[in-house]
Amino acid sequence: MTVPVAKELSLFIAAVRSQCEGLRRPTRGLEMFAREGGWMTIHYANMVDEMVCWEINEKYFPGLAANIPGATICHVDSIAHAKVTDRRFDFISMDNPQGIFGDYCEHFEAIEQAASRLIKDAGILVFPVNIHPYLSKQTPSNDQYGMTSHDAWFARRAAFYGRPARQLDVVFVASFYKAKLAEYGLDTLAFHSTLMKSTVSGHPDYLVRCAARVERCR
Ligand SMILES: C[S@@+](CC[C@H](N)C(=O)[O-])C[C@H]1O[C@@H](n2cnc3c(N)ncnc32)[C@H](O)[C@@H]1O
Repeated sequence: MTVPVAKELSLFIAAVRSQCEGLRRPTRGLEMFAREGGWMTIHYANMVDEMVCWEINEKYFPGLAANIPGATICHVDSIAHAKVTDRRFDFISMDNPQGIFGDYCEHFEAIEQAASRLIKDAGILVFPVNIHPYLSKQTPSNDQYGMTSHDAWFARRAAFYGRPARQLDVVFVASFYKAKLAEYGLDTLAFHSTLMKSTVSGHPDYLVRCAARVERCR
């Protein structure tokens, strides 16, 4: 299925597609946070030979099945499931909710599982980094898995990034994630990032979509 996309998103999708072309076929892809797949996952699904979608909320399944026909849809808590599954993937997207959701925060727990367990010896990791989170105290969540407390969110961000993280920049993002992936035993062979246009009126551009082509070094 072809969906219209903004310029920045087209650039990012093209960069991910080009990274995928270097993968050994057949390729198995995973979306750890699928929703209905209509925003991002739909673009990745046709870059791989097989697509697996994990999602905690069943209400999204009919839309997901319609958007990504042929995907294997699993009703799981992705972080918990990542710790026990034997399946390994060539391509992993972590299209995480922002803020704290349940016990988790952004992709902080997901990337540990993706990098240390789920990815094959070579593959691609895709994740959004929020470099400029909202400071407003009111951010209603879309569902019960959405974020509620900003103060707790900023504390989790500072702990993960090892510094106050109310504002980050793209140069820091690239060097931080290369070092983080190395902690999980992965060399980063290529790192692409695209700063998306803000969809929040009056708020600066905040979401950097990242794609890392990685190879296991230990
Ligand atoms: C940003 S949306 C995903 C958007 C989607 N990838 C797309 O392309 O449209 C995040 C999704 O994560 C789901 N989610 C939240 N916590 C989860 C968890 N622990 N395990 C699996 N899915 C979770 C939410 O229900 C929500 O559908």
